[in-house]
Amino acid sequence: ATLLLINGPNLNLLGSREPEIYGARTLADLESSLSQEAEALGHELQCFQSNHEGALIDRIHQAATDGVAFLLINPAAYTHTSIALRDALLGVGLPFIEIHLSNVHAREPFRHSSFLSDIAVGVIAGLGPMGYSLALRAAASRLQIANP
Ligand code: DQA
Repeated sequence: ATLLLINGPNLNLLGSREPEIYGARTLADLESSLSQEAEALGHELQCFQSNHEGALIDRIHQAATDGVAFLLINPAAYTHTSIALRDALLGVGLPFIEIHLSNVHAREPFRHSSFLSDIAVGVIAGLGPMGYSLALRAAASRLQIANP
């Protein structure tokens, strides 16, 4: 199946952005190793990053039209602010896993709430890049159960 990885605002700066919180790996590095992992699991991974709320929403709509089966999304700061992103995900009805590199619950109080967690299949936070890999494996296992 085709899966789509979406990274939200400022995640294009991974590697140089607050490395003590977000680590040393770049987004390109993360995307390429995750794509390889997806391929090894028999799936195709598409990757998209944007700093713009509307572009993220348009990409989610397009995913539904393109027949994407599952979304992996780190909505970054829009997690805590965007009802529009929530409505887009509800609107297309695609299953998704919410990912955060950092443990948002151990950080500022405004990062403790999410407009997306209650409609996600699951949420991973605080495990760094490994969280993306775990989310991919969880998605692949759910797709296998749905289409044996
Ligand atoms: C983040 C956590 C968010 O609170 C923050 O705004 C980000 C990244 C994470 O991956 O830990 O940009 O989603």
